[in-house]
Amino acid sequence: MKITQQDGIGVVVEGFDSSSDEHVRLLRRAVYREKIVVLKHQDLDPNGFLELGRRFGRPEKYYEPIYHHPEVPEVFVSSNVGEGEQRVGVPKTGKFWHSDYQFMRRPFDITFIYPQVVPTKNRGTYFVDMCKAYDGLGEDLKVAIKGTSAVHSVRRYFKIRPSDVYRPLSEIAAEVHEKTPPVSMPTAQPHRFTDETVLYVSEGFTESIVDGEGNQRPDLLEALLEVSGQRDPSFSHPAIHLQTFEQGDMLVWDNRSLVHRALHTSTPEPAVSFRVTVHDDTEPEA
Ligand SMILES: [Fe+2]
Repeated sequence: MKITQQDGIGVVVEGFDSSSDEHVRLLRRAVYREKIVVLKHQDLDPNGFLELGRRFGRPEKYYEPIYHHPEVPEVFVSSNVGEGEQRVGVPKTGKFWHSDYQFMRRPFDITFIYPQVVPTKNRGTYFVDMCKAYDGLGEDLKVAIKGTSAVHSVRRYFKIRPSDVYRPLSEIAAEVHEKTPPVSMPTAQPHRFTDETVLYVSEGFTESIVDGEGNQRPDLLEALLEVSGQRDPSFSHPAIHLQTFEQGDMLVWDNRSLVHRALHTSTPEPAVSFRVTVHDDTEPEA
């Protein structure tokens, strides 16, 4: 197995064999140290993809079934291909800064993205390392966010399902609130498996920051989104890394450290991606 550092964030891995315990150990270590791993030359069917995910933790099915692969529900499908009855998966997913399942009590630890149909242009995912973002905060902001909580919710980006047509918006909003109530977490929290601190906020899912006295602090949320690059419409902020991929690549990342944002093609090119997400409960070996 060959590991090569890439520009910006992450490493490229050639020759990974998921049946090798040693390769899995090295890859887990790389995911937490390097944050993004690009696995080259993967050739897996949906079941094989799920099995690979299983080597790294407990895969969890997405809570909304419209995203499920028809044969392997643990595989989440992002696709702009097919219409009506032919449709599998959901188009234009994740076109906003977020981390996967940030609005749930237990977000995912590792995300695997396996592009199936790769557009020729404008493909990739933007990333920001929120551990580096925390390190780079001025002392005044570090002090200001101490003891504060960030409140996350799916509300602004919940996608209306085909079955919601003709339902009142208020009824759908009430259902979203009941199924996925807002979740409060420390704004800055220790990473589970490294000695870093994660600045745990995103433009898409973080609704507010609340201080120790229960006061909402929109000024703090705005400052954190600004300094971490999540308010940059040109994506030229130095913290933003654009991860591109080609056919056969699989992207694996540390979902607790990174926020990401999909870059969707503006042309009508077909694009299909599979995703597996896992909870990783065991401390990686050194
Ligand atoms: Fe995502």
